[in-house]
Amino acid sequence: MEARTLFPALDREIYGKPLIYFDNAATAQRPFSVLELQQRLCVEANGNIHRAIHKLSADATDAYEAGREAVRRHINAPARENVIFTSGTTASINLVASCFCERYLAAGDRILISEAEHHSNLVSWQIACQRHGAALDVLPVDEAGEISPEELERRLKAAEGRIKLVALAHISNVLGIVNPVREVVETAHRYGVPVLLDGAQGIVHERVDVQALDCDFYAFSGHKVYAPTGIGVLYGKREWLEALPPYMGGGEMIETVTFEKTTYAPLPLKYEAGTQNYVAAACMAPALEVARQLAEDPALQAAQREMRDYLLEELTRIEGLRLFGTPRDPERKIPLFSFVVEGAFASDLAQILDKMGIAVRSGHMCAEPLLHRYGQTSLLRASLAPYNTLAECETFVSALRRAIKMLR
Ligand SMILES: Cc1ncc(COP(=O)(O)O)c(C=O)c1O
Repeated sequence: MEARTLFPALDREIYGKPLIYFDNAATAQRPFSVLELQQRLCVEANGNIHRAIHKLSADATDAYEAGREAVRRHINAPARENVIFTSGTTASINLVASCFCERYLAAGDRILISEAEHHSNLVSWQIACQRHGAALDVLPVDEAGEISPEELERRLKAAEGRIKLVALAHISNVLGIVNPVREVVETAHRYGVPVLLDGAQGIVHERVDVQALDCDFYAFSGHKVYAPTGIGVLYGKREWLEALPPYMGGGEMIETVTFEKTTYAPLPLKYEAGTQNYVAAACMAPALEVARQLAEDPALQAAQREMRDYLLEELTRIEGLRLFGTPRDPERKIPLFSFVVEGAFASDLAQILDKMGIAVRSGHMCAEPLLHRYGQTSLLRASLAPYNTLAECETFVSALRRAIKMLR
């Protein structure tokens, strides 16, 4: 399969150089099929969903619900009621942090997260904890960037029921390590503690089956998996979604309203107040179809591993380069590399690389506490997608070497 031909943005030139897009962990490029559906719906089916009888509204509703069904199938959720559309991973996590903590968190309780969480899986819980007199319990990562399931178990045991929820990244956006999430869920459940997985990166690089994972919640964004921005998903087990209070009040999430009392719509609409981003939600169907095709192409998967191994080897050869996220089992590393280079600021390197047509990320990667753990304030990150090539990796390594030379 020729993955590149599906994505028109990859044909761009930047400052006269062919674009090398290595910032896929921040957002992925969109395929023709998504762009075409987006435009077609805006022209042919621009009517508010679930509301009117007219044709435009009915077509928009059908497209929206087809997007939901595509998500349900992709993550193997049992029913459409388990799939809530939100605006992204951040919104999905905030929904759970707000509703779960309102019902189940009391003074002295704790929410357990890891040291390697994105701010959206950290600050959301911090805010909720502050509201309820609770605190974060932070599971450390070791020098390689790995968490210890044994340490998790030790903390759950010692907490004697005070840890009310575990919130963990499926894959860290800084370390690029696939966490042992099945083991974490199994361990947490033994102590009666539910688990939310931040799947912003996991949905892109792993085959996610929420029933096999047995997680209680799984959150992800559309834009990292080839859909537009402004759409995200919260998967939840039905018993939790039924038990939690509603999040936002407004249109669509109600059954009946009087000034005295409101009853709420059944799932999933209970959590979908107000006009939704139905065009983007509908685009989840073609986006996930592309994701599936890319994931099931053995040649592309082999190429991804080859690029990962190549970069791992070549980057560690560069003098003064320190790489973060080096799991003992290299198969648990995705093609995502965060590093610092002695004598060269990450932001300066990113700027020079940009002038060479190479898009990489620099900064704290929305994971400041993790950077502090490694004594850093800013990293450079190259994150790959299946449409990248080994030739691009080679160009990147030599461009990086040149950029470092300029700065030293
Ligand atoms: C691991 C992880 N969690 C959460 C997020 C937040 O996603 P969004 O900004 O789409 O809500 C990201 C985005 O980079 C991420 O990588």
